[in-house]
Parts: sequence; C-alpha cells; structure tokens
Amino acid sequence: MKQIKTIMFCTFFLLTINFNAAAKISVHGHRGARAVRPENTLSAFSYALDVGVDFIELDLAVTKDNKLVVSHDPFVDPVICLDDQKKRFKAPVAIRGLTLKQIKTYDCGSLINPRFKNQVKQPGQKIPTLSEVFDLVKNSKLNTAKTVQFNIETKIKPSIPHLSPSPKDFAKLLVHEIKRHGMSKRVIVQSFDYRTLKWVKKLEPKIKISQLTHESMVDLVAAAKAIDADYISPNQYWITKGMVKRLHKNGVLVAPWTANNKPSWDYLIKIGVDAIITDDPKGLITYLKSLKLR
Ligand code: G3P
Ligand code: CA
Repeated sequence: MKQIKTIMFCTFFLLTINFNAAAKISVHGHRGARAVRPENTLSAFSYALDVGVDFIELDLAVTKDNKLVVSHDPFVDPVICLDDQKKRFKAPVAIRGLTLKQIKTYDCGSLINPRFKNQVKQPGQKIPTLSEVFDLVKNSKLNTAKTVQFNIETKIKPSIPHLSPSPKDFAKLLVHEIKRHGMSKRVIVQSFDYRTLKWVKKLEPKIKISQLTHESMVDLVAAAKAIDADYISPNQYWITKGMVKRLHKNGVLVAPWTANNKPSWDYLIKIGVDAIITDDPKGLITYLKSLKLR
C-alpha cells in the first residue's frame, strides 16, 4: 500500500511540474562546486567542468596591483584560507591592499568550510586570477570545456569604496580580460551593484549582464529594464511563477541562486526558470537527467 501511495504521489508530482522539453535549464556551478570542493579554486572549477556544468559561477575582487582575482569576499577569508606560513589568519585581510604576489602565498585548499562538510581538501590551491580560470578551460581536453560559459560576479559595494576600484575601472579591467581571452560571447557579468553592469554593457555590448537581487520585493522587470539586463538573478526564495512569466514576456532570462536540494530544484523547475545556480552541480545534473530534463 505504502509503495502504491509513493508511486501515486510521484506520478502526481511529475504531472504537476510544467515540463517544457525544449527549454533546457542551465546548470551554474556556484563558486565552482562549493558543496564538494574548496570554493572559487581551480580544483573546484575543474570539478565543475568534469561534471558538465553549463556555466562556471565565480566572484571577483581586485588586488592592489589591479589584478582580477577570484574571491567571494573583499577579504582573504580566515575560514577557508591559510597564511604564507600555513597558519590561520588572525583576522581578514583586505585583498585591495595586497599584491597578487602576496596573495599567491596563501593556501585556500587545505581547510574545509564548516558549512560544507562534504568538501574534499585540495591542499596548495591558491586564489586564482580570472585569467587562470580562462586558461584552465582553454587548456582542458574535456568536451564540456569547448562550450562552458562563465557567470562572473563583480563584488563591489557603494558603502565600502576603498575595497574595490570604481565601478568604471572595475568594468574596464574585467572587459579587457574577457576580450583578451576572446570570451565575450561566453560570459555573463552579474552583480548586485548595477553600476558595474552598466559599464560592462557600454564597454562591450556583446557581454550579457545579469542583475542580482536580494530578498526585497523590487519590481524585477523594472530592475532589468533600468539597465537593459539580459538576466535577473533573484534569491531562490523571492521568485514566483508570475514573476518569471513577466520577465520572459519582457525578454529577460531568470537565474536564481543558490539552490542546493531537490525541493528547491523542484520549485524552480516548476516555475520555469532558465538556469539554477547551485553548490552541487553534479547532484542537480543527475536530478535533471532523472526527470529527462537534460
Ligand atoms: O550568483 C549568485 C550568487 O552567487 C550570489 O550570492 O553571495 O554567493 O555571491 P553569493
Ligand atoms: Ca556569486
């Protein structure tokens, strides 16, 4: 009886999901694959490539010598990185105050993030430059490397201007690097700060831009229109089917963050999003395959 009930429930659930065979949901590996690898490291990006993500998601900070480096925070995070002596940092250190050479002395692969117990240590992993990430993909022999795209976030906040370049300078550095690697058509630039997005669009219209939004009930269509955004990237808990419909009607794609389990994925599939940003790309890809959505 229990089995019959389970089968009936699953059938009902599958029927209620609005499957659209033509609309593939892109999988974005958040900080590479934070569920299983130290975040924002080359080993995390290799793993993401290996499991077949459509997009590698990563965050950017800028060093004292104006190098774009991959870090979620404007500080070297003591929770995930060790200092040049392989010891714990006593306090966070601002990346904007460090040269690339200094940053390269830190080890950001030997600690497990306590929030992600399934991470596998990758001792010796450094904070990579954006250029190294592009090179990793260009030099990879994997088929997925030929088509994988990048969802690159400019981490910048108006309230702490000393921790990043100006929006214009940040965008200039980024666009220069994307163009240098011939990646304009394979990159989305995302940000909570619309200012860098406006500049990116102005400097290189071929690059897609994605407005990230927090928990606020802003009018997402208006937010997208304000900067001619290609994507809205909302918090997964602040997006509904109605909002997705309106965005689609206005030609805007939807890429919510950061969904890491089946109930969340089910919800986002059901409301018709275009992409899901996840710490567990392998789990999501396997799940989409099981639903014949990939
Ligand atoms: O890509 C969207 C998501 O990454 C935004 O959140 O804080 O993980 O960068 P965060
Ligand atoms: Ca991010």
